[in-house]
Amino acid sequence: PLLALLAGVGGYFLGSIPTGYWVGRWWGGIDIRTQGSGSTGATNVLRTLGKGPALLVLLVDAFKGAAAVGLGGALGSPWWVVLAAFLAIIGHSRSCWLGFKGGKSVATSLGILLAMAWPVALAIFGVWLLGIALTRIVSFSSILAAVAAPVLMWSTDQPLPYLLFALAGGVYVVATHRRNIERLLAGSEPRIGQKWVQSP
Ligand code: G3P
Repeated sequence: PLLALLAGVGGYFLGSIPTGYWVGRWWGGIDIRTQGSGSTGATNVLRTLGKGPALLVLLVDAFKGAAAVGLGGALGSPWWVVLAAFLAIIGHSRSCWLGFKGGKSVATSLGILLAMAWPVALAIFGVWLLGIALTRIVSFSSILAAVAAPVLMWSTDQPLPYLLFALAGGVYVVATHRRNIERLLAGSEPRIGQKWVQSP
């Protein structure tokens, strides 16, 4: 129970680090939550502040996920890895420093998957890139990758805890995109480089 608590609480606080909010404040002098989609993730930082700050947010948010996997691993069981990882993606999108809001947990999930099984993570990233190449819509590509993640983990015979993480994490990431799904269905989701014309 103590180890579970350490994994869960540690994972949550790692995930909750509000990178995109800080970068928005320090780099752009803005509150990223009032811009574009209102998300604190790298995609919204890209459309609001540009490539450099977006890359920084992407890397730090991915690193938070990898660190949660490291924490769980240090506690000695793949189940603690999964607990820390899942709480990290909740922490990212429901950050206690941002009124329990945040990003959509895509970059953090990528960092987690890279730390769990990097070859599979690269394949999942490949699915995301394919989505971008075909549509230039980040949310659509993230949803596609979230669906592909458990399928690729399963078809490459990954350990059961990691497969369950990909399944639960995939469902969670799709759920964080519900506003995007509404816009995709309405045909109003902006592509990379397009101006944001609606309210967040
Ligand atoms: O990584 C998040 C992305 O899938 C969508 O972000 O800002 O377009 O809602 P956003």
